[in-house]
Amino acid sequence: MSHRSRCMFSFWQLVLLFLRVLLLTGGSNGEFYSSVDTMQALAYVEKEILDATHVYVKAQEEQLNLYRNFVAQVKREHAMAIDEMQLEEYVGHPLHAFRLLKRMVTDWNGLHELMVNNQAREDYHQKIDQVAKDFGYPDNTDIQGAVKAFNRLQEVYNLTANHLADGIINGKLTETELEWRECFEIGVQLFDLKQYERSLEWFKVAFRILVTSSRKVLNRRKFEFELMEYMAIANFELGNAKSAGILLDQILKVEPTHSAQQTRKYLLHREMLSTKKVEVASDPTWHANYTRLCQGHRLPEPFTGKSLHCYLDAKRHVSFILAPLKVEQVHVDPDINVYHGVLNDAQIEKILQESDQNEMMRSAVSGDKGSATIADLRVSQQTWLNYSSPIMRSLSNLISDISGFDMAGAEQMQVANYGVGGQYEPHPDYFEVNLPQEFKGDRISTSMFYLSDVELGGNTVFIKLNVFLPPIKGAMVMWHNLHYSLDVDRRTIHAGCPVLIGSKRIGNVWMHSGYQEFRRPCLLTCDEEKSSGYRD
Ligand SMILES: *[C@@H]1O[C@H](CO)[C@@H](O)[C@H](O)[C@H]1NC(C)=O
Ligand SMILES: *[C@@H]1O[C@H](CO)[C@@H](O)[C@H](O)[C@H]1NC(C)=O
Ligand SMILES: *[C@@H]1O[C@H](CO)[C@@H](O)[C@H](O)[C@H]1NC(C)=O
Repeated sequence: MSHRSRCMFSFWQLVLLFLRVLLLTGGSNGEFYSSVDTMQALAYVEKEILDATHVYVKAQEEQLNLYRNFVAQVKREHAMAIDEMQLEEYVGHPLHAFRLLKRMVTDWNGLHELMVNNQAREDYHQKIDQVAKDFGYPDNTDIQGAVKAFNRLQEVYNLTANHLADGIINGKLTETELEWRECFEIGVQLFDLKQYERSLEWFKVAFRILVTSSRKVLNRRKFEFELMEYMAIANFELGNAKSAGILLDQILKVEPTHSAQQTRKYLLHREMLSTKKVEVASDPTWHANYTRLCQGHRLPEPFTGKSLHCYLDAKRHVSFILAPLKVEQVHVDPDINVYHGVLNDAQIEKILQESDQNEMMRSAVSGDKGSATIADLRVSQQTWLNYSSPIMRSLSNLISDISGFDMAGAEQMQVANYGVGGQYEPHPDYFEVNLPQEFKGDRISTSMFYLSDVELGGNTVFIKLNVFLPPIKGAMVMWHNLHYSLDVDRRTIHAGCPVLIGSKRIGNVWMHSGYQEFRRPCLLTCDEEKSSGYRD
């Protein structure tokens, strides 16, 4: 099976782990799905639970053996008393009488105590509570998050549930497939999220796998009907009452007393009540550009006289004399440059170690009133690093040597980790309004460091500029979010595509304009007019 990728496997491992953890619902809002780091932590949690359960089962087994032996022994005594001697004769013997009393007073009592106290069960309880306290526990919101991530991947990368369930991702066969129950579960979650079309797709796949399964399925018929009932309701919600009726009739033909009877009544009732039209959410206009660029396709561009170059730059700063910058122009006006190989693996390792020491938080999106909200818009875990450690000091020098900016205006570096399905929908980096008080001016530039390669997906895309950048470990991409006039440059709106397979780590440094008066003087005529054709 050499053509099957190892990394594909890890994708499904994580996803399946998720679905299985469904059984262990607890009371936290863990937000596990948003990062591969937290999913790894979850695997450790499961290992702890597995070990604790093993200990519990062994202890119970030993106890049971104890009980079994005792019961067998007492049974032998009774057999002797009743079958071989008269009972009166038996209890008349002082040794027998003593034995009976001793059994009643000490042995049975001891046994009762063991049974009632059940120390193994207590230990198990304690262990599980401790694990939940130490690591947090996923709950249904995590499952929903994972299912939403699925949905996103399907949308952005045009993946069918059929292919996904068979483990086919981007035309490649991977190591894992989904079972009908798992497809069913995904369908139910999507159904609960009112994503009826998608849920129907998953129910159909579950149905296909169920009816073609060569394995013996207990109550197969029952599950088939359950799926058909769900499909009927999903069809109904999609405005397809006729299909809903046909599915329910099929069930009732075989099993006239099935609950589909009530469902049919209910749907008929609703049909009469409302003539509600199904609203089909139309894609925002940027969506076509977004998915195309995420899939790695650029539109052919007319030749404008501007051509893009790759070049070595040793002149920008003395620090590049011996090791020239490897510059790749990916767009001109607004300029977007990739600087390749600015960080090596050892440096990246140090940065990631430092960010591990800070606890990663689920990324929030800057809200309208400056309040941060956790939104599906942005799915990642993040932490902030200042420039006091040696590695961060050298990173700070690197940014200022490349950009010419004064690091006095720089925010701390935000290190983010996007797991499977993790994304950041199109957004600008500038604030425009409600500027944060701690800094002078808006975010004039963005320096984005790629701290990992990504197996599949995770492009950075500029939806108005027809630019996509696959993450390349060690590279840094940089652009200006403001015009020379310090007006915001709306063309710089960009997005992080969902991670299809693997884990994406990036470090962002945003520079504010307030300290850069002498570094990037505002031109008398700003470049706004020059590029007005692009403005919206
Ligand atoms: C999506 O994939 C299907 C085949 O699975 C293909 O027919 C369709 O054109 C694709 N759509 C887009 C937008 O790529
Ligand atoms: C989509 O991309 C095209 C080509 O790059 C661009 O002209 C257009 O403005 C983009 N649309 C949106 C809504 O960003
Ligand atoms: C920088 O971050 C480290 C680790 O989080 C912290 O101990 C230190 O106090 C911070 N330094 C400044 C100047 O904020």
